[in-house]
Amino acid sequence: MKAIIAAGGKGTRLRPLTFSSNKHLIPIANKPLLLYPIEAVAETGIREVGIIVNEAHSPVEKLLGTGKQWGLKLTYIYQPKPLGLAHVVKISQKFLGKSPFVYHLGDNIFSQGIKAPYEHFMKKKPDAVLTIVKHPENYRLGVPFFDKNNQLVEVVEKPKNPPNQFGVPGLYLFNHHVFEAFKGKDAIKPSARGELEIVDLYNYLLKKDYRVDVAEIKGEWRDPGKFDDSLEANRLILDLHLKTSIKGKVDKDSKISGPAEIGSGTQVVNSQIVGPAIIGQNVVITDSYIGPHTSIADDCEIVSSQIENSILMKSTHLIKVKARIEASMIGQDADIRTIKTRTPSYSFFVGDHCKIQLPF
Ligand code: TTP
Repeated sequence: MKAIIAAGGKGTRLRPLTFSSNKHLIPIANKPLLLYPIEAVAETGIREVGIIVNEAHSPVEKLLGTGKQWGLKLTYIYQPKPLGLAHVVKISQKFLGKSPFVYHLGDNIFSQGIKAPYEHFMKKKPDAVLTIVKHPENYRLGVPFFDKNNQLVEVVEKPKNPPNQFGVPGLYLFNHHVFEAFKGKDAIKPSARGELEIVDLYNYLLKKDYRVDVAEIKGEWRDPGKFDDSLEANRLILDLHLKTSIKGKVDKDSKISGPAEIGSGTQVVNSQIVGPAIIGQNVVITDSYIGPHTSIADDCEIVSSQIENSILMKSTHLIKVKARIEASMIGQDADIRTIKTRTPSYSFFVGDHCKIQLPF
């Protein structure tokens, strides 16, 4: 058994952060997003993993290296253009050979890992497993269609009127028969958006009477590939996994309630922290309020400011910001501060695609 993890793509929905950083390195609860799929795959016991990247010497490769740290043997597979989730399968054929495989999107998080569908695939040995999850907005996803005997007949990408509550998350399991979908006159074709679609691989296998089992994912699934979903994933991980651990210094005038992780070298002075909140190393927090569901990366400085339900990336400064910062993602080395001016005014130095919301 092998695995592939797709970590190419364009990341347009997370601009401007993805202008300067690879989407898969965006921190969720102070951990790069891609490490969630890496750990989920490592937990199954699979060792040989192909990582799909869109550039040579990608930051993804720098982060993961050989994979030894997770007990994995990683092979990097270069995808020159993001030609679709099924194209990822096509270009991984040489790496996968005849091995059955798990395919995990590099920007998806499953709160209970992927062991249950993996074990289903290993024990029952179908040709493929379609994972499904209950989702209130499944019209944005691939949706499984069942006949009256509850047999899977088709998977439809973003249907207008989904006939059930299920959608397909970013986890797929196949054996080598899937590669037949790229050959001959019945080979799958690019969709209207020019991509080889994952749903078409399942539809091909169904049409050719291969056995496709369905496995419902239990627990939570998040797809933090866009702004709101990143914050939502951050909240979920902090709610589920954060335990109090205080390595830095908290002075006697500060108050901490709820689970909080405070890294070494961090100083908290005359401030209030309401967890779940994670604060990295060498952060300085003075006269401030850090509210629930906040992740603050290393080397940040927060003075006389309030922040909650937000992700602050490395080396960011918040100085005397008057209104509370909420539901925000702020990239590395950002500097937000109040300064004295003759007339009250805002001053911005922001890149493309930024969103700034100001109070009345
Ligand atoms: P998507 O979120 O569908 O696409 P994207 O990453 O290009 O983002 P956006 O739509 O905001 O521009 O991709 C899901 C995952 O699969 C993500 O981790 C990137 C990866 N991927 C590839 O590796 N190759 C591809 O051809 C595509 C489409 C995605």
